[in-house]
Amino acid sequence: MTATSAAYAAYIVAALLFILSLAGLSKHETAKAGNAYGIAGMAIALAATVAVATEDISIVGLVLLVVAVVIGAAIGIWRARQVEMTGMPELIALLHSFVGLAAVLVGWNGYLSVEGVDPSDGGPLLTGAEAGIHSGEVVVGVFIGAVTFTGSIVAFLKLSARIKSNPLMLPGHNWLNLGALVLFAVLTVVFVIEPNLLVLSVVTALALALGWHLVASIGGGDMPVVVSMLNSYSGWAAAASGFLLGNDLLIITGALVGSSGAYLSYIMCKAMNRSFISVIAGGFGNEGSAAASDVDYGEHTEISAEDTAELLRDAASVVITPGYGMAVAQAQGAVADLTRKLTERGVEVRFGIHPVAGRLPGHMNVLLAEAKVPYDVVLEMDEINDDFASTSVVLVIGANDTVNPAATEDPTSPIAGMPVLTVWEAERVIVFKRSMNTGYAGVQNPLFFRDNSRMLFGDARERVEDILRAL
Ligand code: TAP
Repeated sequence: MTATSAAYAAYIVAALLFILSLAGLSKHETAKAGNAYGIAGMAIALAATVAVATEDISIVGLVLLVVAVVIGAAIGIWRARQVEMTGMPELIALLHSFVGLAAVLVGWNGYLSVEGVDPSDGGPLLTGAEAGIHSGEVVVGVFIGAVTFTGSIVAFLKLSARIKSNPLMLPGHNWLNLGALVLFAVLTVVFVIEPNLLVLSVVTALALALGWHLVASIGGGDMPVVVSMLNSYSGWAAAASGFLLGNDLLIITGALVGSSGAYLSYIMCKAMNRSFISVIAGGFGNEGSAAASDVDYGEHTEISAEDTAELLRDAASVVITPGYGMAVAQAQGAVADLTRKLTERGVEVRFGIHPVAGRLPGHMNVLLAEAKVPYDVVLEMDEINDDFASTSVVLVIGANDTVNPAATEDPTSPIAGMPVLTVWEAERVIVFKRSMNTGYAGVQNPLFFRDNSRMLFGDARERVEDILRAL
């Protein structure tokens, strides 16, 4: 058996492992196994690809390959060891940008080694329909890759708070996006008929600008959908590279990532009552919602940890709604201890998890599982929302946008229409945070000023530990 046919067999095994990995990652209980399948699949795919590449590679090429693998692996291990759970979304966004950049480079390389070869140096390598298909693959691959590249960089900058998360609303922004797509379609036809450096350069510049504009136009509240959308784009960019490189595994893997990312985005849009088309079209239909409301909601009332402990002691039922602040404070261990202590005292304690609480899908579920909170008391937003009216105390631990009544009550709010946890219906709401600052979407929260709300200021972990001591 040659290295190439062995590699094909290995590719089939790797593709199956990737499918098993996706299936495993869809449930808490099987997520670890899903990860293991993914790692095994990627190790096999990498080994097979290197084995094929080394069949007819020069010694210089081999050295470059080894150097690239060592540098890439070193950076990957270093970043993975360093990253905090709260920094995962921006790291993922940055990694998507690498996939996009790789697709652009593969596309350009495809052009330079086929269409860009001077006929006097031996003529074009491809002719007829084959040449047209190749040119189409080049231009589409470069376009998707470049959109993914700059889109992911803007997402990285927004998620890491290096730039504002407010949506950029250029006049006629929808027309700009539409115009860019029409121009791309025209340039694709031109390039397929007569491939040339100028057209490919214009397509690259156009796609870089479009990717940047699409994500810059999307507001903070919609960023979760954007991250999974970019995940999908990076899959399609990889698949486009697979066509160019004639690598079946890259096509399969890219299509798996592309379609699962698109499906995840669709589910998230449904959960957040957002139009899928609006989000992928860069905030299409968002006019007028960019301004944050500066309404005066009145005074807020504070509470101490001791008084909160008193309330909890007398409570019949408690619901905890964690958010990004719980992850920042690493309060999940203390929250799990509080849950155990209250349950032992006969208080019914449950959790209400918003689909976009935290900064990545399933963020809160992962933290609570890590702290050994039983799965059966951790409920989704739809499962808990009807129960708030009969709840004695809600503890809002570092959540803000996901418990903001403005989403349902103020049609002019930037987060209007987003379903939220209706915590304000409970008898008493205690909000754990460090200040009166806004949440991720930059919108003030009227919940903090309600008569039945009390603010417990400070680091969430320290405050929960204070309550534990007072209990
Ligand atoms: P946010 O709206 O982000 O609010 C978090 C709150 O935690 C802040 O108001 C902050 O207030 C508080 N906080 C931060 N550190 C704290 C600490 N050490 N102790 C106590 N409180 C602390 O949180 P959320 O309700 O979870 O909403 C998530 C937001 O992120 C949504 O807008 C969502 O669209 C967006 N987003 C989500 C995802 C995914 S997939 N989940 C991805 C990207 C973006 P202080 O500064 O006053 O303490």
